[in-house]
Amino acid sequence: MTQNWWKEGIVYQIYPRSFKDTTGNGIGDLQGIIEQLDYIASLGVDIIWLNPIYDSPNDDNGYDIRNYQKIMSEFGTMQDFDVLLSEMKKRKLRLIMDLVVNHCSDEHRWFQESRSSRDNPYRDYFHWWPAEKGIPPKRWSYFDIEENAWQYDALTDAYYLHYFAVKQPDLKWENPKVRSEIYEMMHFWFKKGVDGFRMDVIPFISKDTKYPEIDAREPHEFITYYANGPKVHEYLNELNREVISKYDAFTVGEGPGIAIEQALDFVHEDRKEMDMFFHFELMSLDRAPGEVFKMREDSYTLAEFKKVFGDWDTAFAKAGWGSLFLANHDFPRAVSRWGNDAPEHWKNSATLLHTFLLTMRGTPYFYQGDEIGMTNVRFTDIEDYRDINTINRYTTIKNRGGDLDAFMESEQHAARENARTPMQWNTSKNAGFTTAKPWIRLNPDYKNGVNVVQQETEAYSVLSYFKKAVAMRKKYPALVYGNYNIIHPENEQVYAYTRTQGAERFLVLLNFCDDITHFSLPNDISYNRILKILSNDLILDDKIFKEFTLKPWQAIVYKLEN
Ligand code: NOJ
Repeated sequence: MTQNWWKEGIVYQIYPRSFKDTTGNGIGDLQGIIEQLDYIASLGVDIIWLNPIYDSPNDDNGYDIRNYQKIMSEFGTMQDFDVLLSEMKKRKLRLIMDLVVNHCSDEHRWFQESRSSRDNPYRDYFHWWPAEKGIPPKRWSYFDIEENAWQYDALTDAYYLHYFAVKQPDLKWENPKVRSEIYEMMHFWFKKGVDGFRMDVIPFISKDTKYPEIDAREPHEFITYYANGPKVHEYLNELNREVISKYDAFTVGEGPGIAIEQALDFVHEDRKEMDMFFHFELMSLDRAPGEVFKMREDSYTLAEFKKVFGDWDTAFAKAGWGSLFLANHDFPRAVSRWGNDAPEHWKNSATLLHTFLLTMRGTPYFYQGDEIGMTNVRFTDIEDYRDINTINRYTTIKNRGGDLDAFMESEQHAARENARTPMQWNTSKNAGFTTAKPWIRLNPDYKNGVNVVQQETEAYSVLSYFKKAVAMRKKYPALVYGNYNIIHPENEQVYAYTRTQGAERFLVLLNFCDDITHFSLPNDISYNRILKILSNDLILDDKIFKEFTLKPWQAIVYKLEN
């Protein structure tokens, strides 16, 4: 397996809007990130992924871009960006930007031109369906109130395609001019010195421009169709050849709709498309069948959780490379979702999840606030939400006479804004995020220990553990590249595995439950010495080192020696 900095690196994702406000407008900004670079470096992470910072009307918080080469005014200026990048380089931090090119904003100049007349030179930058052909074949949309991805535009008597919001028209990659504009824009950022891109919904870029009727009803059926456009591999290969291959850079695609059997088609080294992608199998595990944002009613099992990780590890064991994440700006908080954020289990479960991500194969991605165990805010009032996804879905359900109470209850667990509340720096007003009224309400738990300053001073905190776990991963290449072997995959309490590279071998024990649990190692795992290198709790008992007693949500990493 070839070794690369982006395989060994640990990524820290910043949602700039909610990171740190320095101008007093209630919105985070680039200067806020600059201010906190020493903090970020102190975590031991290597790469920052910035959610979109480009000029945008913010219909979908920056995922609707008006100008790809201008900084969003709330966030600062291009000069701020240049300072940010050079300050990052001083600290040996790399930067990946968000590349949002399946769609742009309807306020982008390209779309303004395109919609102005049928014979405008930019007309073919977007997907249009002339109304004289009748109503276009059904396409489902994520954020549209009617879930209809075709929007009628009276000016030219035609419909345009938008897989996301009405204000996010899909770009037409089939037009070579569109592709070359995008490549040029990417060169602009690479010339500034960025190290790569996270590519938003990248498998959706290729479309069948005959727009045939398709056999899909549920959202996930549309998503699968969207991810399997006829030329997706041709375009990714071209993008790599024209842009990425010219720099020491990497790409990570957001991969909704990519099935595991297709994984290597995207990331096999020989195909030269992208380096890794975020699969959606884990993110679907606790969702209702066919649904994207609604929680399922029963709960998933630990065996199912393990299987997702095991299957994807196997997919990349010989070629390609995987990414590991438990949370990001589109999903609830990791500790609330995969751990237990009740006061008695919060600390152990947050640190168990850190141990897990940092001992698996693949590049780990942490979302801002994970390092201090930030939890779901669980808004109960629709007025508290800012997210187009929650607000438009609420309207859809209301218009259809659906069960709004059930929706609001589900959103407490599913809403994207659980992860978008401001970063909690200290116990002062608004957690030190802003001196003004924040753009979104904070999670009040910043007063109860979930904040940076307090955790920096406590002897044992989620934050101090995070740093230790990061340092451990950095020390042992086997934790990055080593083979993964699961032990007792059917066990519903403990997730146990070894990671092995040559003579270096580790045993990881994770008690994924609220009770004290006993665990026995099978006989075929033998060793002469077992050294504990990390644990998030006192070890109760590891007599003769084959039988273990684990406290609730305890995580332990042992080094095994022959
Ligand atoms: C995925 C992004 O992560 C999400 O925040 C956004 O709403 C959609 N893509 C549309 O760009």
